[in-house]
Amino acid sequence: MFSLLKRAPLAMLSLLAALSFAWSLPAYAEQSESQVAQREMTQLAGADFWRQVRQGEQGYTTSQFPEHGTLISTPGQAWYILKEKWMSPAGAVAIFGSIALVTMMYIVIGPIMLSAPRTGRKIKRWSRLDRALHWSMAFTFLTLAFSGLMLVYGKHFLKPYIPADLWGFIIMLAKQYHNYIGPIFYVLLLCVLVKWWRKSIFRKVDLHWFMKLGGMVGKHKGSHPSAEFSNAGEKALFWMLIVVGSVVALSGLVLDFPIFGQTRRDMEMSNLVHMIAALILICGFVFHIYIGLFGMEGALEGMVTGEVDETWAKEHHDLWYHEVMEQEKQEQAVKPVRRVEGVAADEQTS
Ligand code: HEM
Repeated sequence: MFSLLKRAPLAMLSLLAALSFAWSLPAYAEQSESQVAQREMTQLAGADFWRQVRQGEQGYTTSQFPEHGTLISTPGQAWYILKEKWMSPAGAVAIFGSIALVTMMYIVIGPIMLSAPRTGRKIKRWSRLDRALHWSMAFTFLTLAFSGLMLVYGKHFLKPYIPADLWGFIIMLAKQYHNYIGPIFYVLLLCVLVKWWRKSIFRKVDLHWFMKLGGMVGKHKGSHPSAEFSNAGEKALFWMLIVVGSVVALSGLVLDFPIFGQTRRDMEMSNLVHMIAALILICGFVFHIYIGLFGMEGALEGMVTGEVDETWAKEHHDLWYHEVMEQEKQEQAVKPVRRVEGVAADEQTS
């Protein structure tokens, strides 16, 4: 029963993915038919007809929606150019730049190793709920990033090399996944905010951590500046995730539900904001993932098992370590008193 409960979030996620996949299959079939119809329409109407339409002249409709008279919105061209000619290449440079930078960091600076040997004594750092939240958010974030990047760049690096039908299927899948899982990411983000905001408040000690560049580079390398449960870098990452993540999620919701009177300009603006904010997050998390996977000895085991070695705690989060030790001392001081009280009570009753 307990192991079933443990697997519940994963099972929910798989179920959602399967449902969104199943829902999208009929849409795919319809899309292929409508694509054929559209192609035929275009050919029947001829180039002159579409040239006239592109001039943006307003027509007539009984619908009350502000833009229903406009078949093709000519100012949308500015959005298209901004997205395709500027944002898309700039994003690719930023992502590959971040990956190149962490590779350089690994080669030049190397991973941060523990200075003293491990003591083998384990300290509890992340609860089961913390870990479930972290890995669910990491999974949704990474798969959303992957499907989002496929929507923007797939036509350049995948489409030319695979059959048209397969490409249509992959891109439809990416779109459906992105549309359905996006709101789940926002729910997880709000849960993370509620659970971790308290330990992410900046204090004076964080200023020293920043001034010593976290003890990671230059003359401060290996100096282990003081840190609470979260160091200043982790706090900065946390607030970046909350603020920029909310921008990504809210602009995504505007795009996901175009039923609240959004005009084409609103949709274009949301699309650009969504793209810029998502790229900032992806680049930021390239560094986080590097530190978690390769950049710091002993960090990952905390997020996997929930416990860290005493030496790791002492070197990277000394203020938190002393707090935990103090708490343990107080608990041990209380225990014998309780035992004596228990014995006294037994003697009185006998
Ligand atoms: C393969 C991917 C990832 C790995 C290996 C990883 C690894 C880790 C590790 C080891 C920690 C604990 C650090 C510590 O104990 O001080 C951590 C914390 C955290 N991670 Fe990740 N992570 C990944 C992806 C993500 C993603 C995609 C997000 C968000 C979208 C994320 C958000 C966070 C946050 C907010 C914290 C807490 C930082 C704090 O305030 O202390 N992680 N991660």
